[in-house]
Amino acid sequence: MSTFYITTPIYYVNAEPHIGHAYTTIAADVLARYHRLKGESVLFLTGVDEHGANIQKVADEKGIPPQEYCDQIAPTFTKLWQKLNISNDDFIRTTSDLHKAGIAKFFTKLYESGDIYRGKYEGHYCQPCERFYTEKELGESGTCPIHKLSVEKVVEENYFFALTKYQDQLIDLIQSNPSFIEPASRRNEIMSVLTSGLQDISISRSSVDWGIPLPFDPDQNIYVWTEALVNYITALDYHVDGEKFRRFWPANVHMMAKEITRFHVIIWPAMLMAVGLPLPQQIFAHGWLTKDGDKISKTLGNVIDMDELIEEFGLDPFRYFFMREFSFGNDGNYTQQRFVTRYNSDLANDLGNLLNRVLGLLSKNFEVLPDPIQPDAIDEEIKQMALETAEKLDQLMNQTALDVALETVWEFVRRINRYIQQTKVWSLKDDPSRMGTILYNAMEALRVISVFLTPFMPQVAAKIQSQLGIEAKGQDLDSVQEWGGLAGGLPIAKGIPLFPKKDQNRMPQKETGLDSSTDATVDNLITIDQVQDLELRVGQIVSAELVPDSERLLKLIVDLGNEQRQIVAGIARTYAPQDVIGKQAVLVANLQPAKIRGIESQGMLLAAVRKKQLSLVTVDQAIPNGTLVS
Ligand code: MSP
Repeated sequence: MSTFYITTPIYYVNAEPHIGHAYTTIAADVLARYHRLKGESVLFLTGVDEHGANIQKVADEKGIPPQEYCDQIAPTFTKLWQKLNISNDDFIRTTSDLHKAGIAKFFTKLYESGDIYRGKYEGHYCQPCERFYTEKELGESGTCPIHKLSVEKVVEENYFFALTKYQDQLIDLIQSNPSFIEPASRRNEIMSVLTSGLQDISISRSSVDWGIPLPFDPDQNIYVWTEALVNYITALDYHVDGEKFRRFWPANVHMMAKEITRFHVIIWPAMLMAVGLPLPQQIFAHGWLTKDGDKISKTLGNVIDMDELIEEFGLDPFRYFFMREFSFGNDGNYTQQRFVTRYNSDLANDLGNLLNRVLGLLSKNFEVLPDPIQPDAIDEEIKQMALETAEKLDQLMNQTALDVALETVWEFVRRINRYIQQTKVWSLKDDPSRMGTILYNAMEALRVISVFLTPFMPQVAAKIQSQLGIEAKGQDLDSVQEWGGLAGGLPIAKGIPLFPKKDQNRMPQKETGLDSSTDATVDNLITIDQVQDLELRVGQIVSAELVPDSERLLKLIVDLGNEQRQIVAGIARTYAPQDVIGKQAVLVANLQPAKIRGIESQGMLLAAVRKKQLSLVTVDQAIPNGTLVS
């Protein structure tokens, strides 16, 4: 059986966990669950990093011994992982005997490799980061680039690791194995660090009491970062070359955020090379969750209340949002508005309504799940799409493109909604065998969707399966290779709404669509339920004039290729008529016409609106007028 070993960083216990830690851990959980669903033998490790000056300082402030402090904080992590339904197989604490035994063995080997020597270290140290910065990295302010705190100048005698010796091997490694570090943007960053020249690193501290002593000089404690990296093997019983170590090392993925990439891509592989151990297959460094552009962190005090969100929306929607909303790999700016919008559109509307609608139609028209006895060409398309979605999903999961993977599943969800619309299944009462076939296919599609969603929303997937009348057991990725996993004759469950819609008006500010407070007409005609029916087309504005007596409205003629539309748009405070002529914008083309100030508007242009700021949605590259936007 193939194995899959995935890790998260071990998190510092200097404070309780926050959403940033949860983000990485949920992503790793999704991957672990996905590989289990494929039938692989998975080991998913997370844990806590408990040594170092920083933790000692917090314990001192609290007036308790550091071990007691760690014993208080470590459970806040395990409790959170339980709450978030994280399926980690193991949890490593660096104060454990297991870790200490592995560290003793590893650093003895490192010493024996001949790459350790004694020297004098001078540097600028940031305590919360537990790392040194060069003057260049500190910039003009002289403060840590992450925490924006002042750094300490430190001079001490300690042991060094001859990192420079591995520079060429590391360059070779990254050049010959581009997927060693993902995403590609991080690779370029690391290559420039490597090619501009490395320095040897100090691996011990004489001035830090809270740590693990060097096996070859117990007067010095091991520098917390070099000690922490080794957790990825100490947890596998490396000290005795245990079965786990032999089966699961090297790791498939070390998952983390971008600020700790260098430790994992440069220092960790070099240390492994020195002791002659195989290297992890991939370091994946995703972006930061930010709020107002700053990394969310306890030090900056800009954390998000996870309990509140989970209470209001449920755990799985919480997991879904963070995996879907932000491009995995890039930074993502959190707002509650984005949460509600995503929840309503994807979960309440696309998925929730589909399930309720199909179950509603079934219970109204059938006693039990009918067999698909009257197929048609359109059904083939659906079956084909299910297979293609499984294939795409696999590729995207292998690339750790988690948000795109979900979008691909949603293309299928929306396709099934359209299938219901196109076949007008509700009107086929006189043709029960065709109606039954369509509803069977919709139910089978929901089964396939539930399998796809299992890694992301395990509880929701199980609830969907229970509403389909099946057990979660056996619903794995193999089961979607074949259409027809649902048996005809199953009892029909009553649909229980999984995602009650949330009121947009509870949001602090409505930020989408045109300003609806005055002259409101166009955007009242379309509801969120109809979003899936939106016909969006590229239209070129060929003429524009101000609507008399209005500061806000422009009357536009928009060319859609084979027709022209007159549009009244509330954009005049931002755009003068001559600014918009020639622009290719995005038009809602199937919107019921409306009169605005007595002028007929035959559609609606999309724009991003924030307070008084407005920006038309345009296309990135010229494309024929009338092209569908999907
Ligand atoms: N102890 C080290 C890691 C040692 S691994 C051998 C450490 N700990 S940490 O508590 O600071 O955790 C950093 C990690 O937490 C990030 O790399 C990321 O995985 C996660 N995140 C913390 N804040 C985050 C965001 N605001 N956004 C995304 N991830 C974040 O560094």
